[in-house]
Amino acid sequence: MSILVTGGAGYIGSHMVCSLLEQGRDVVVLDNLVNASYAALERVQALTGRCAIFIKGDVRDRSTLEHIFDSHSVNEVLHFAGLKAVGESIEQPLRYYDNNVGGTLSLCKAMATAGVRRLVFSSSATVYGHVERMPIKETMPTGRPTNPYGRSKLMVEEVLRDLCRTDPRWSVALLRYFNPVGAHESGRIGEDPSGIPNNLVPFISQVAIGKCGALPIFGNDYPTRDGTGVRDYIHVLDLVEGHLAAMETIARRSGVSIWNLGTGQGYSVLEMIRMFEKVAGRPVPYTIQRRRDGDIAECWSDPSLAERELGWKARRGLEEMLVDTWRWQTANPRGYG
Ligand code: NAD
Ligand code: UD1
Repeated sequence: MSILVTGGAGYIGSHMVCSLLEQGRDVVVLDNLVNASYAALERVQALTGRCAIFIKGDVRDRSTLEHIFDSHSVNEVLHFAGLKAVGESIEQPLRYYDNNVGGTLSLCKAMATAGVRRLVFSSSATVYGHVERMPIKETMPTGRPTNPYGRSKLMVEEVLRDLCRTDPRWSVALLRYFNPVGAHESGRIGEDPSGIPNNLVPFISQVAIGKCGALPIFGNDYPTRDGTGVRDYIHVLDLVEGHLAAMETIARRSGVSIWNLGTGQGYSVLEMIRMFEKVAGRPVPYTIQRRRDGDIAECWSDPSLAERELGWKARRGLEEMLVDTWRWQTANPRGYG
């Protein structure tokens, strides 16, 4: 049996495919390469000595999906394909809803037709909206995400809940990621943002290597220990292991299961800079700017439900996350390009 990985050429997807191939699983990747390079999959092949079947296509395209389900014996789907840039989602809401919500609808319809009803969805801590009390537990109500990207994730969660409510044969995991960072320990695959990075760690890393001048810190007047924003950074390889555990668990369950994937530990922007400086052995200059619209002071998980139900716990600490980021950055100063 094969696993279909949508968005499998992207940052998290390529690490997932690498791990699945290492385990001897057969993998079909569907990716339209809108935010990825085929080179990532070539490197995964070189790392694992095995090859995923790659289909360049769009998850919104029913005929492509039907072809995949007709020609490969797929029994589960990991759905990473989606657009993820918050600022872009504010400028192009229809594109984001069409891609992220529309893409999931066509995927689920094709899955239902093919009789495949096991799905792991890449959700985000953004669905909790503005939470006052940390840490965030899965039992807390979802909030109102501040942008179309976040709302598209929440909408997909609702669609998948409705689907499971009406048909108990479905088994769906909603994995709410906190802040994935880091790269494969080989330095061969990693995050390759196009243009100026939106997220903190890729930005710091590009400052350290000299591609960006100085890091803008978005606010130092938050009610946190040093005034800068606090987040729960998680190594991408821990995240991948969380998916493996979730896949095993939902194979024995039905309905919707929700798990936070985080470490339970928050770090401030200044703490991230200090650790990066230590790891890279060079300074990371920064300037203090006004707060970024939609940002919250702090966001970190209670990951204990995943530990209890999945037997999974993030193992890699902050230093390892940043060592692996830096190895990838220095070995690939222009990313896959
Ligand atoms: P990414 O952009 O690197 O990967 C997404 C992949 O999906 C890309 O390879 C892209 O080409 C592909 N894709 C997009 N739309 C597609 C479509 N219509 N058809 C086929 N392929 C399509 O992003 P990532 O960081 O690897 O994130 C993977 C998933 O996890 C996304 O759904 C994202 O929203 C979610 N997520 C990411 C983060 C994060 O910080 N990276 C946090 C929370 C949730
Ligand atoms: C962002 C997205 C969120 C998404 C998540 C993971 C926003 C408003 N939210 O969250 O929807 O799920 O990424 O992809 O974009 N920071 C700086 N300077 C920078 C970049 C970031 O100071 O150049 C700060 C931020 O203010 C924040 C922290 O660093 O305090 C982390 O930022 P980021 O990496 O963008 O992640 P999130 O804000 O958690």
